[in-house]
Amino acid sequence: MAAKAKHVFSLKILAECSTTKARTCLFTLPHSVVETPVFMPVGTQGTLKGLLLDQLDELDCRIMLGNTYHLGHRPGPELLEEAGGLHKFMGWKRSLLTDSGGFQMVSLLKLAEITEDGVQFESPHDGSIMMLTPEKSIEIQNAIGADIMMQLDDVVHSTTTGPRVEEAMHRTIRWLDRCLKANKRPKEQCIFPIVQGGLDSQLRKQCAIELTKRDVAGFAVGGLSGGEEKSLFWKMVTLSTDHLPYEKPRYLMGVGFAVDLVVCVALGCDMFDCVYPTRTARFGSALVDTGLLNLKNKNFSEDFQPIDKNCQCSTCKSYTRAYLHTMVTNETVACSLVTVHNVAYQLRLMKRIRESILEDKFPKFIQTFFTTMFPNKN
Ligand code: GUN
Ligand code: ZN
Repeated sequence: MAAKAKHVFSLKILAECSTTKARTCLFTLPHSVVETPVFMPVGTQGTLKGLLLDQLDELDCRIMLGNTYHLGHRPGPELLEEAGGLHKFMGWKRSLLTDSGGFQMVSLLKLAEITEDGVQFESPHDGSIMMLTPEKSIEIQNAIGADIMMQLDDVVHSTTTGPRVEEAMHRTIRWLDRCLKANKRPKEQCIFPIVQGGLDSQLRKQCAIELTKRDVAGFAVGGLSGGEEKSLFWKMVTLSTDHLPYEKPRYLMGVGFAVDLVVCVALGCDMFDCVYPTRTARFGSALVDTGLLNLKNKNFSEDFQPIDKNCQCSTCKSYTRAYLHTMVTNETVACSLVTVHNVAYQLRLMKRIRESILEDKFPKFIQTFFTTMFPNKN
């Protein structure tokens, strides 16, 4: 009998935690099989600042993020189309996920204005007025060719209250339908809807239930991690995963602090992304289980240990904290060395989480993780 073809965009649940909502799965995408829970590093312009593709391969990174807003401007959809998509253009063989661009515009540009048609903004490049509609966002994302595309959503700041939150939630649902209709390559590229609804339980629940009526490969939870209280953040995450289908992946957008990853896996999230690990590396800060090492600090000038003795990354194999301390003044080299480590740290953290779920030891992992991060000082 011929081997059964792997179903694209299928999720196979391998194990679940008996006391939390954590699970570990294989998510099959056109360009790779992704083991979840997964952290997806963010490459804004189609590269991860300071990292080469070989280094990402070596770290066994199976999926990374690209950005419609940046890529739509340069190289632009026409050139990407001509190049046969971003995979070919940049030489990345594994999976890509692209965000729709609206969030970046609203968070980066003060001049963005949202109407029913889309997000209008003044181009930071030439000052011209541009309009990103759901159709345009998908057109650009189709040209990029990402395995997973995000719907264009109407995002309000997480602490916004009042009728604007409800308006944005309903508009997000209408924009989802326009995005699904605009997708020219549904067999090769799926679209994730995004649960919005601010910090309002009713709205979030209503949004998740409505989105679930669409036939899609997975769902995202958006509009969080914008400075809201932790207890509300956790409540909104739980509520969202409670109302999303069990058999589909759940992607929590913009979350990447180690503590949040561990907690939100327990609350049922499978996928995460954040610029934090790469951004903080460029400031000379390295991620470790006890928190953050600011390598610029003179305490490290004579510290001849690697950043993390348990880390197998190329930086930890070859360089000491003292060396990195002297190098952080040389931006480019130190930045890429620390970036390699920070991405390796995030990927290894997720791997440890997955293994603990497989062995049904996730609660013990949480306990050890938190006592290492927040030791009892008395
Ligand atoms: N990145 C972080 N949060 C969000 C969100 O709510 N929507 C989108 N599109 N991207 C995000
Ligand atoms: Zn390392």
